[in-house]
Amino acid sequence: MEITLSVLKADIGSIGGHIQPSTALTEKVREIIQHKGRKQLIDSRVSWTGDDIAILMTHQQGVGATAIHEMAWEAFLAGTEVARSEGLYGAGQDLLADAFSGNVRGMGPGVAEMTFQERDAEPFVLFAADKTDPGAFNLPLYRAFADPMNTPGLLLSPALTEGFRFVIMDVAHTGKDRVIELEAPEDLYRIAALLRDPERYVVESIWSRHSGQQAVAASTSRLHNIAGKYTGKDDPVMLVRVQKDFPATGEILAPFSTGHFVAGGMRGSHNMPLMPVPLNAGTSYFDGPPIVTGAAFCVHEGKLTDPVDVFAHPFWDRVRDQVADKAMDMRRQGFFGAAMLPMDELEYTGITTTLDGLDERFRIRPDGPEPLRQAL
Ligand code: F6R
Ligand code: MG
Ligand code: MG
Repeated sequence: MEITLSVLKADIGSIGGHIQPSTALTEKVREIIQHKGRKQLIDSRVSWTGDDIAILMTHQQGVGATAIHEMAWEAFLAGTEVARSEGLYGAGQDLLADAFSGNVRGMGPGVAEMTFQERDAEPFVLFAADKTDPGAFNLPLYRAFADPMNTPGLLLSPALTEGFRFVIMDVAHTGKDRVIELEAPEDLYRIAALLRDPERYVVESIWSRHSGQQAVAASTSRLHNIAGKYTGKDDPVMLVRVQKDFPATGEILAPFSTGHFVAGGMRGSHNMPLMPVPLNAGTSYFDGPPIVTGAAFCVHEGKLTDPVDVFAHPFWDRVRDQVADKAMDMRRQGFFGAAMLPMDELEYTGITTTLDGLDERFRIRPDGPEPLRQAL
């Protein structure tokens, strides 16, 4: 059976700052999806990661289907009403359009979707990250799909040895999408040359070269490209099909033990390590650290199993301790150097006012270095 998996996510308001949505808000979104989805959907799950609500849906209307996107948009609007009525912080923050127009792409919410013929057993993982942006998935995807040091399947399984096609988007480009297709392993260095710059180049999808099947769909929206200014971080979601012709679940999870530094954290303006956390976890230290959740499912004829919380296992407690150490190490250097993002990635632009104000106080010395000032 051919099905489509769609996950749409948005920050529509949260308790106590940017920590987590309220139960009433989450329940409202769930209620709307269950009610309106009776005819359109086969199944759905609503979850949250930090201050973002993710709606996972299975259906047969394909990628970018108006009815599906509109339903999610309406659920986010209804959730926003609850957020307003409860006085939650940032109510409706990611809903950047006044009216729905065909598809939520370019309207604020993040989207990841893929259509495929269900395998006999169809396991996949929904990843959702908060207090960071879509480039956060570059490193784990590179390792899982292109690095045999991480993924022994690239050596051991003939289907994986044929490699994977990476579709990478230039997210700095405005207007029509600017994308490139590169093949691992032949294009490995070219893929690496792009993915090393996660604020500009982001993995949009990955495909098996053996079967032509899609393995990964990831959200790539940059809110500041939509709103013309920063309105929040573009906390990403991603769907990854696993096993058989794709990397094993554990091969996809392993790179998250690195706790790699990503853009985000406090005021969306810092470099902080990404911490894998259990499902439905909020944020805390320094409005972070940036977090990622993983919900593993199987789907059969569009019906979802219960999720398994992949980062709840005790192994990840040790990783979390190490990531917390990394986070505090970086914070010890305050705003200096690598701790804070470069100017064009800061979510707050107030510093440019300060710098503009200093501009007229700079002067050019006419004849090289001045003589030493006289001591008072
Ligand atoms: C992401 C997130 C942050 C905020 C940022 C600025 O979910 O919540 O990136 O957008 O911390 O928020 P304000 O300006 O409300 O403090
Ligand atoms: Mg937020
Ligand atoms: Mg968020």
